[in-house]
Amino acid sequence: MAGLGVGLIGTGYMGKCHALAWNAVAPVYGDVERPRLVMLAEATAELAERKAAEFGFETATGAWQELIDNPAVDVVSITTPNRFHAQMAISALKAGKHVWCEKPMATSMEDALAMQAAWRSSGKAAVLGYNYIQNPAVRLIRKLLAAGTLGTVNHVRVEMDEDFMADSEAPFTVRNEGSSGYGALDDFAVHPLSLLRNLFGGVSRVFGDMAKPYPDRPVAGGGRRAVENYDIATALLHLDNGASGFITVNRTAWGRKGRIQLQIFGDRGTVAYDQERLNEVQLFTRDGPAETQGFRTILTAPVHAPYDKFIPAAGHSLGFNELKIIECRELIASIRGEPSNTLDFDDGVAIERCVHAIARSFKEGGWVSAGV
Ligand SMILES: NC(=O)c1ccc[n+]([C@@H]2O[C@H](COP(=O)([O-])OP(=O)(O)OC[C@H]3O[C@@H](n4cnc5c(N)ncnc54)[C@H](O)[C@@H]3O)[C@@H](O)[C@H]2O)c1
Repeated sequence: MAGLGVGLIGTGYMGKCHALAWNAVAPVYGDVERPRLVMLAEATAELAERKAAEFGFETATGAWQELIDNPAVDVVSITTPNRFHAQMAISALKAGKHVWCEKPMATSMEDALAMQAAWRSSGKAAVLGYNYIQNPAVRLIRKLLAAGTLGTVNHVRVEMDEDFMADSEAPFTVRNEGSSGYGALDDFAVHPLSLLRNLFGGVSRVFGDMAKPYPDRPVAGGGRRAVENYDIATALLHLDNGASGFITVNRTAWGRKGRIQLQIFGDRGTVAYDQERLNEVQLFTRDGPAETQGFRTILTAPVHAPYDKFIPAAGHSLGFNELKIIECRELIASIRGEPSNTLDFDDGVAIERCVHAIARSFKEGGWVSAGV
C-alpha cells in the first residue's frame, strides 16, 4: 500500500501528538509505508506555515476546507476544539477521505448522528482519538478478561481526576461556558466510557449527578463571571454484561494530574490500573495459600504487544505519545480493512448516548436508558 497522504487540522496539544504519530508510525512498526505529510491547516496562514515547517508537512493553509479539497490528502487528522469536529469530519468523509477525529465526537447528539451517517455512507475509515484503550496495559487487561482470570465480572469502577481547574481563583475560560457543553461530563467522562466500551461493550442504564464546586471565577480585566457548567460528574451504570458500574470525573481534584483509575472486580479476582502509572497493572487472584495472597504489580514489557515495537527491553516504559502512535497504526489497519483495536463512529455514538443519558438523568433525577 502506497504511503497515505495526510492532512492535519490543528497544531495544539493534540495536533502535535498526531504529527508525532504520523512521523513515527513507519519507523516504529516497520510494516507500513511512510505516510506523506501533505498539508497542515491552522486558524491563520502564518501559524500554519510555521507549524508545517516544524512538523514536516509539505504545504500549509489558513483555510481547512482547502486541505479537505486537496486530492493528495487521503486521511484527515482533526485536532481542533470540539465545536469544529462535526463540520470537519462530515466534510472530509463527503470528500472521500478517511478521518481520525479527536474526542469528544461532537458537542451534540444531532451532530454525532450526522457524523455517523456521513461515515456509514462514505465507505471510509473513521476513528476517534480514545488513546487510553491503546495502552499495552489495557490490552493485557482485555486479555485477562477474555481468559476468565477474574472469573465473572460483577463490578467496574473508573475515576478520572485532574486539577487544572482546582484553583477557585483560576480565571474563567471558554471551558466554563455553557456553549462548551456539560463540563467534565462531555470533556472527561468520554475517556472512562471509551475504556468501558473497549473492555465490556455497551452500557444499558445510567443514574447521573453533577456538581459545581465554584459558582463563579475571575474574569480577565476585573469582576467575576458565573460558571455555566459542571466540573464534577458521577454516574452509576448498568453494563450490558450484567455488571454494575460507577464512573466519576473531576477537573478540580487537587493533586491529581492525569489519574484514570480503573478497577474491575470479578468473582475470582480483581484488576486495577491507573493512567498516572501507565506501565503497571495490579492483579489479584485467589491462587495460592491465603497467607501469601495479595496484589502483584505487572510491569509492561516487550511481551505485552505492541510495547516491543518501541523498545526491545523491559523496564523502560511507554508514555502518552506512544499511545497515539499505536492508535495511528490501528487507524491504518482500519483503513486497510484489517481487524483493528479502534473506536469508530458507531462506538462514538454509543458513548455520546451515554453522556447525554447521564445529563438527562441528572436533570430528571432517576435511572435513564443509555441504549438506542
Ligand atoms: N485524546 C486525548 O487524550 C485528548 C487530550 C486533550 C485534548 N483532546 C481533544 O483534542 C481537541 C483539541 O484539543 P487541544 O487540547 O489540542 O486544543 P488546543 O487549543 O491545544 O489546539 C487546538 C488547535 O486548533 C486550532 N484551530 C482552532 N480553530 C481552527 C480552525 N478553524 N482551523 C484550523 N485550526 C484551528 C487552534 O489554533 C489550535 O492550534 C479537543 O477536541 C480536545 O477535546 C484530546
